[in-house]
Amino acid sequence: MRGKTYVKAAIGLLLVAALAVPFVAGCGSSGVTIKPGQLQMGSDTEFPPFESMEGTKAVGFDVDLATAIAKKLGVQLNVITTAWDGIIPGLKTNKYDIIMSAMTITPDRKKEINFSSPYIDSDQSIAVVKGSPIKTQADLKGKVVGVQIDTTGQFKAEEIQKAGGLKEIQKFDTTMVAFEALEQGKIDAIINDYPVSQYVSRTRGKTKVITKIKTNEQYGIGVNKDNTELLKKINSALSELKSDGTYTTIYKKWFGVAPPTE
Ligand code: ARG
Repeated sequence: MRGKTYVKAAIGLLLVAALAVPFVAGCGSSGVTIKPGQLQMGSDTEFPPFESMEGTKAVGFDVDLATAIAKKLGVQLNVITTAWDGIIPGLKTNKYDIIMSAMTITPDRKKEINFSSPYIDSDQSIAVVKGSPIKTQADLKGKVVGVQIDTTGQFKAEEIQKAGGLKEIQKFDTTMVAFEALEQGKIDAIINDYPVSQYVSRTRGKTKVITKIKTNEQYGIGVNKDNTELLKKINSALSELKSDGTYTTIYKKWFGVAPPTE
């Protein structure tokens, strides 16, 4: 009788110790991330102001927001630069825990992965070189338009093309390479996310956005379908960051104005 009680107590202690380990190692969230103590983020870091490289360091709105989320989760953020083409397969094969890459929540992508609650609104736009004769969407007729491959910019360009609104679509691996082609006169226009084309045009100075194409897109953080625990934690972190003012601070830092009120 006495012996049995002793064994039971010992098993109990072992269980308590085993349960405590994850908390010591990763402050509570290690069970839901690939590497204990870390939140690994896959991102195509050529999409300012959301994500870009400053030397070897990833910076941007997404990076700041993800850093704040990781902090709430008690883990360290690690950004893994990933080609846009293949970013979803990379998540599905556990190369990282989340995708944060100004990714629009779309019905097709939702079949593959889960998304957090939307963290920012976006639209499409047409960018051209300064002095271009293209002034409206109708002026794209017969023109060559550049897009980043497999983006909502490409999908919008295809719609316009089907309606007979443009001659050719050229697909680029990154948005920055598309902008270089535009600046060099190799293409006539770019269809791409409005805030990015605005930012790139302003900072590089050679192009301008002639029109916004209203698409009412929303960006979300991509998480694997089976990792519902992480998704829950990210969503609560997001809503805390919105109510404690952190979101507004980050928004102002990258966009220079307060976020629109819902
Ligand atoms: N929002 C667009 C989409 O989801 C473009 C995103 C591109 N992101 C990037 N980091 N290159 O299709």
